Amino acid sequence: MASSSSSSPIILSAILLFIFSLSSSSAKTSFRPKALILPITKDPSTLQYTTVIKQRTPLVPVSVVFDLGGRDLWVDCDKGYVSSSYHSPRCNSAVCSRAGSTSCGTCFSPPKPGCSNNTCGSIPDNTVTGWATSGEYALDVVSIQSTNGSNPGRFVKIPSFIFSCGSDNILKGLAKGTVGMAAMGRHNIGLPSQFAAAFSFKRKFAVCLTSGKGVAFFGNGPYVFLPGIPISRLQTTPLLINPVSTASAFSQGEKSPEYFIGVTAIKIVEKTIPISPRLLKINSTGFGGTKISSVNPYTVMESSIYKAFTSEFVRQAAARNITRVASVKPFGACFSTQNVGVTRVGYAVPEIQLVLHSKDVVWRIFGGNSMVSVRDDVICLGFVDGGVNARTSVVIGGFQLEDNLVEFDLASNRFGFSSTLLGRRTNCANFNFTSTA
Ligand SMILES: *[C@@H]1O[C@H](CO)[C@@H](O)[C@H](O)[C@H]1NC(C)=O
Ligand SMILES: *[C@@H]1O[C@H](CO)[C@@H](O)[C@H](O)[C@H]1NC(C)=O
Ligand SMILES: *[C@@H]1O[C@H](CO)[C@@H](O)[C@H](O)[C@H]1NC(C)=O
Ligand SMILES: *[C@@H]1O[C@H](CO)[C@@H](O)[C@H](O)[C@H]1NC(C)=O
Ligand SMILES: *[C@@H]1O[C@H](CO)[C@@H](O)[C@H](O)[C@H]1NC(C)=O
Repeated sequence: MASSSSSSPIILSAILLFIFSLSSSSAKTSFRPKALILPITKDPSTLQYTTVIKQRTPLVPVSVVFDLGGRDLWVDCDKGYVSSSYHSPRCNSAVCSRAGSTSCGTCFSPPKPGCSNNTCGSIPDNTVTGWATSGEYALDVVSIQSTNGSNPGRFVKIPSFIFSCGSDNILKGLAKGTVGMAAMGRHNIGLPSQFAAAFSFKRKFAVCLTSGKGVAFFGNGPYVFLPGIPISRLQTTPLLINPVSTASAFSQGEKSPEYFIGVTAIKIVEKTIPISPRLLKINSTGFGGTKISSVNPYTVMESSIYKAFTSEFVRQAAARNITRVASVKPFGACFSTQNVGVTRVGYAVPEIQLVLHSKDVVWRIFGGNSMVSVRDDVICLGFVDGGVNARTSVVIGGFQLEDNLVEFDLASNRFGFSSTLLGRRTNCANFNFTSTA
């Protein structure tokens, strides 16, 4: 340190301070998570799936509806948004372009979260009710738990997470206690993309829904469920892009952030359901095709598909001596449980098959994902009629996803699915949430 003695003391202490701050900041950032998790809980009254994200300064738990197909995270900023780290991106900034915003707002009220000048506008969208409003983009701290694949680990912070400020009036229809929606869609500012960008991991996530507490993983696997069962060997099929947004309100030319897959046929046991091929394709105005949705509690089918599907199921159930009983809304085909056996994968009913891009890639749906118990002795085929003008012909809903692990790989545009985990002697409620941090 001979040379340092000739330095002025002020410069030296500045250098020391600089070195000190470097090492303390590197100590803080040296933990790089390989993957993150969110707990996902089903709300029994709305049948929506909800999650909790820690946000703001000081951090508070923010309960939001988990939306597989949504575009961004939006929360109500009208009520109770208190944070010392809230800030607004300027119009035409990099953040605004990443958010895909095309508008610049002025707010004629006193400044507060959700009311700023020279900030880019957003369109928070309640995808349950289809109500959208105008809001603004904002940045704030988000904290989320890391995982090694079998347990949660420590929390990690993202200092400037991009979200959209919505308002009170579009919360209507969402599960009690929630203040917005967390979007998993394929947009640049969807949660999977922002998490991947913050920690440089793969743009990939996996979801395991249940009627209780399930889990979503972001980044790399493994995905391990009790009693120590890693879920791998997924079947995969391409993710398809709908060129036209399916949101309630959107900017002209924006692609849909939702996840579409190419169902080419639907079978019940070995019988193929007659379906107009036109309905299974996404046309140039964005109609048709099959998407995956967590905001639809049950799979929705365009009317002609629904009718053909239900009548074939009823025919095959009758052939197995399963007694049909009066329908219970919203379902169109219900049965007595009397002559129905029970297996590890649910009631022993005719197996439903969604045939994907190749005849060997088949999503098999067993009783556990096809039959909904509505009373002690009555079960219903858990599919609903989407009407004749359905925008999307088949919307695979929450009940059909439960206890299946599904993976969305945005980097390689592939969808992976496990089929029912009940067949692998575990289920989606079996993630070990005991933290090892
Ligand atoms: C935004 O600018 C307008 C017009 O200059 C002003 O009246 C208003 O108070 C400002 N709003 C905020 C939130 O700063
Ligand atoms: C995750 O960490 C826990 C606790 O240290 C350990 O028991 C488990 O085996 C780890 N899992 C993986 C997949 O590394
Ligand atoms: C796409 O399908 C919808 C619904 O069937 C139809 O109204 C629309 O005209 C179709 N668009 C094109 C370009 O074929
Ligand atoms: C259905 O019931 C009829 C009459 O009771 C019986 O002959 C037939 O074997 C049963 N079929 C099946 C598949 O159980
Ligand atoms: C869950 O993980 C914790 C921490 O690794 C472990 O102590 C506990 O035994 C696990 N629970 C079960 C049911 O295996």
